[in-house]
Amino acid sequence: MIVTIDGPAASGKSTTARAVALALGFDYLDTGALYRCLTLAALEAGVPPEAGDALDALLQGLTIKYRYHKGRIFLRLGGRDVSEAIRGVEVTAGASAYSALPAVREHMVAFQRQYARGRDLVAEGRDMGSVVFPDAELKIFLVADPTERARRRARDFRGQGRAVDAGTVQAELERRDALDSGRDHSPLIRPAGAVEIDNSRMTIDEQVAAVMRLAAERRPARRVSPEELLWPVTDDAAGVARAERMRAGYRVTRAFLRGVMKLVFNTRYHHEERGRVPGPLLVASNHIGYLDPPAAGSAVHRELTFVAKRELFRLAPFAALIRYYNAVPIERGAFDRACFDTLRRRLQAGGAVFFFPEGTRKPVGWLGRAKFGLGLMAHESGAPVLPVYLRGTDRPLRAVLRRSRIDVYLGRPLHIAPLLDRGVRGRELYDLFGEGVMAEIARLQDEAGGIRGSGAA
Ligand code: DC
Repeated sequence: MIVTIDGPAASGKSTTARAVALALGFDYLDTGALYRCLTLAALEAGVPPEAGDALDALLQGLTIKYRYHKGRIFLRLGGRDVSEAIRGVEVTAGASAYSALPAVREHMVAFQRQYARGRDLVAEGRDMGSVVFPDAELKIFLVADPTERARRRARDFRGQGRAVDAGTVQAELERRDALDSGRDHSPLIRPAGAVEIDNSRMTIDEQVAAVMRLAAERRPARRVSPEELLWPVTDDAAGVARAERMRAGYRVTRAFLRGVMKLVFNTRYHHEERGRVPGPLLVASNHIGYLDPPAAGSAVHRELTFVAKRELFRLAPFAALIRYYNAVPIERGAFDRACFDTLRRRLQAGGAVFFFPEGTRKPVGWLGRAKFGLGLMAHESGAPVLPVYLRGTDRPLRAVLRRSRIDVYLGRPLHIAPLLDRGVRGRELYDLFGEGVMAEIARLQDEAGGIRGSGAA
């Protein structure tokens, strides 16, 4: 899926596009940075915009490497890191002139389409929805008052320790607007089919939420439904008894935690009987707050193993405490093979593992994609997955004050076997299974009456 975000300078495109990309788990393409890169190369080589052949030669020899990782972009120009250098004053002032040139645009458009191939992407610029990705599933056109944009830009400059005058900033913005909108090739326009959002009086969170709602509506249809993956829960009394064997200390503290969740945090549990699954089990929930593990852990009648970021193990007493509750350290960023192996061993021994399939926390109301680790674990261990939907754990204080409550919904256990029977293999298998699990969590969200639903007391 491709989401395009176009708009004038300082309209909040980058902030919005980055936040949306992170929340969706999509890649992010900052095309302004590419034009800046070319501008830097031209300025350094002393090639002015009107140079014609010299500029063509420069374009031919240009090697730009663009990489996005976890909210940051990295740009290399001929092997040199220019991620900082392209933000300089001269480059900013010069970019409009270079980016108006047809040869430059042709080059960049090819680069951008090539980059987008096979990716889920949020692409930000001036001509994303109109020229580069006219078939994008969602096109956003962001606008804001010129005075508001000048105010934001001046604030950014001050944040960087630069003294600026608001009037000068506004004049410079208006000059760039005129250049970007008035040029013959790919001027800044509202693309056909774009949704216009005026963010002059919106907070960043509001803008992001607005784009996310639209993205949820436009997301391509599901390729798998939870109904296809239902795992027949057998009435295996011995198995249930085995599954319920918790260490005495765990059992007692779990009961205590449940009391605290109910009495202090105003928690309700729904469909608890679905948690009585014997044998190896993966419990997978959405992730919106720090109370998620205790909320889900107190709902499922099993002793759970869970994953905690390695940093949490630094403080020895705390490390001892979470280890008692079966925490396994995970290295974030890359795929942590050692952690994965530990979880697999626990599953092989008949244990239950608690897992956030989306990885990091997501804004409330948005269900992201499952990472491939969930499908991989389900496949290698043969364990069913119990989907869990959590609501209200992002606002524990409201629950304590009885202004809202926490809800924990257990879903129907799902199994990867039907996909194997369909002949699905490899990465596709993990992606599809992840989609099925997230679809069941989405179904629970609907059942709960949406993101706030009746949870607001
Ligand atoms: O968004 P930005 O300030 O980083 O953009 C830098 C310059 O590149 C700006 O002058 C407009 C131009 N640009 C463009 O012409 N087309 C795009 N798709 C993106 C940026």
